[in-house]
Amino acid sequence: MLDKKLEAAFNDQINKELYSEYLYLGMKAIFADMNLPGFVNWFDVQVQEERAHAMGMFDYVHERNAQVTLEAIDKPEIKGSTPLEIFEQVLEHEEYVTSRINALMDVAEEVRDRAALSFLDWYVKEQVEEEANVGGVLATLKLIGEDKKALLLLDKDLATRTFVAPVIG
Ligand code: FEO
Repeated sequence: MLDKKLEAAFNDQINKELYSEYLYLGMKAIFADMNLPGFVNWFDVQVQEERAHAMGMFDYVHERNAQVTLEAIDKPEIKGSTPLEIFEQVLEHEEYVTSRINALMDVAEEVRDRAALSFLDWYVKEQVEEEANVGGVLATLKLIGEDKKALLLLDKDLATRTFVAPVIG
């Protein structure tokens, strides 16, 4: 069993991970319109990762004999239109997700659920990777500036990213 407060917090985070999937799907569509297939691939992998993050918690809640409650997923709000602006938003979003994972850990601590804390450790480490990965692309985009040739080279590089189904928990 999960404490009801912790169950609600897990359900809220499942919704946030599904929103992340939806947000990145929206960004993938923008890069498809820009004819940048490497960026499209990068977001395709990101979409799959977010689904995996959501499903990891979905399965865990069931494993703990608790209930998954799905809520509406918000419409994705994409603020920028250039690769740089979009990646600034991605980093901002990942920092927000990190803060939500930390808040979920706080609830697990409050109800003294050691098993949940141990499970959530995977997400804490994953967020460090997520922020580093996004921060790396963002730093390159800042260096690139208005150089279209350099942008196409980055696009080629991002085309090599592949999705590896994570083993969560
Ligand atoms: Fe599920 Fe990108 O954090």
